[in-house]
Amino acid sequence: MGNFQILHFSSVSSTQEIAKMILRENVVVVADEQREGRGRKGRRWFSPYGGLWMTIILKDFNSQLLTLAAGIAVAKTLESFGVRSKIKWPNDILIEGKKVAGILAEKHKDFVLLGIGVNLENEIPEEIKDLATNVRGVKREEFLLAFLEILEEEFKKNKENILKDWRDYECTLGKKVSVDDELVGVAADIDDDGFLILEVDGRRERITAGTLRFLE
Ligand code: BTN
Repeated sequence: MGNFQILHFSSVSSTQEIAKMILRENVVVVADEQREGRGRKGRRWFSPYGGLWMTIILKDFNSQLLTLAAGIAVAKTLESFGVRSKIKWPNDILIEGKKVAGILAEKHKDFVLLGIGVNLENEIPEEIKDLATNVRGVKREEFLLAFLEILEEEFKKNKENILKDWRDYECTLGKKVSVDDELVGVAADIDDDGFLILEVDGRRERITAGTLRFLE
């Protein structure tokens, strides 16, 4: 499994918080359960037993590319277990339109804390059943080891090849979308840094962060 060192916890507030205390490169903090799992934009991330909740501690280089690489690695790992998924920019992993995994990259001192949550055997709460899904029958430990191996391969790739892989799994380009429920346009492309090019009334806007919603 190469370079990573896995530290396993039973119940934590959030693996992101544990990672902040550890701050050692290539350590992977895994927890059975998070009591205060966080999503992007301060949203809550349900993290009961049965899912894979982890934070990978990395030295800061390019967190946009890191998150794209992590999303690709999740999709490739699912594929290795026979499950097809797609990536919504930048890195929501979807199965038939519902989110199965999410990625949260946070900078802390000289590190990037790459938080990844994958819904496996965990229950999906009623209130998000329209939006979220899970994958049953894949062992968490097996998924983790396969994922870390695939992620290492992805990290070895140059920018062009990461972007090429991302395009193989994406389901965003060409679609009419809203960004943070404000800006509406067509997701025309991603640029060399992995940022979204949104076409709004003939103008091209570069979107560096935000939540997309498909409009049709
Ligand atoms: C998102 O799609 O909004 C990102 C979800 C990230 C969830 C993971 S689970 C492990 C790590 N610890 C957290 O509190 N959040 C991330």
